Amino acid sequence: MKLLVTGGAGYVGSVCTAHLLDGGHDVTVLDDLTTGHRDAVPAGASFVEGDVAAAAADVLAEGFDGVLHFAARSLVGESVVDPAKYWHGNVVTSIALLDAIRAHRVPRLVFSSTAATYGEPESTPITEDSPTRPTNPYGATKLAIDHAITSYAVASDRALGAVSLRYFNVAGAHGDVGERHATETHLIPLVLQVAAGTREQVSIYGDDWPTPDGTCVRDYIHVDDLADAHLRALDHAPPGEHLICNLGNGTGFSVLEVIEACRRVTGHPIPAAVAPRRAGDPAVLVASAARAHERLGWSPARGDLDGIVADAWAFARGGVSA
Ligand code: UFG
Repeated sequence: MKLLVTGGAGYVGSVCTAHLLDGGHDVTVLDDLTTGHRDAVPAGASFVEGDVAAAAADVLAEGFDGVLHFAARSLVGESVVDPAKYWHGNVVTSIALLDAIRAHRVPRLVFSSTAATYGEPESTPITEDSPTRPTNPYGATKLAIDHAITSYAVASDRALGAVSLRYFNVAGAHGDVGERHATETHLIPLVLQVAAGTREQVSIYGDDWPTPDGTCVRDYIHVDDLADAHLRALDHAPPGEHLICNLGNGTGFSVLEVIEACRRVTGHPIPAAVAPRRAGDPAVLVASAARAHERLGWSPARGDLDGIVADAWAFARGGVSA
């Protein structure tokens, strides 16, 4: 297929681009490089540097079989401080992209949604029918885009089939393509910075949560498993429908368990200290990915936490991109 990947210079977008190229697809990456890296775009993809809202219509005029939309602002904390950046950068941009998709009759869309659309869950594991009550502007903007996608997909001509994939905690690397954020807030890369000697210790954001060891529990998913789901979503995008699927392993690991896994994998003692809770953190986020299994035929192959950490560690020590 001829595919447009927005945000293909970022972490998840670049790994998915590598998988799409391996799958024989013809890929054009559109990215403005505000947070992505030019050298993260896998060789073999065409690259257009530009703002998604401004450039999408021109690019899509060439005729495409599908769009994978990764480009987004994605820092929860920043979204609370500067919501305009998120409503413009995520929602306004995505509506412009949807208009271009519609104008050029692109038949498939796969969208990077997030577990942050659910907010504090009422029960675990979280299914796609759980209430969506985001606790921060980041999650609210992703949910707003999901609603817009539904409207565009079920529009009277039913020309678009869309799949939103709601990621839980993505980690790991695909060879030399991994996570390289200017502002790193994610647990695994921060813990590995301690192992690499570029950070003195890691903070544990609260040890008095209502969980077995008192630290927050999350569902970590390997970025290669995530990419596999995107390829399947392209094949299964139902015309005139918007399918929403969670992506996770269905197993939760606490912050302490993650730090312990990093100690095992790296052989480094990794000093850690308890710090106050981080605002907006739910205690437990674990996915039910039963729908992705049913509708996309997807099952994670790389759910082992030590394996996820080992790939992130190999990248942290020698990776060159993303
Ligand atoms: N944590 C620490 N210390 C740190 C960093 C994180 O204890 O230095 C804890 C957090 O409090 C949380 C867990 O580690 O309990 C995981 O935190 P991350 O920042 O790695 O990931 P989040 O669960 O906050 O965020 C992920 C995605 C977001 C998405 C969110 C949905 O990265 O994009 O899930 O809630 F919005």
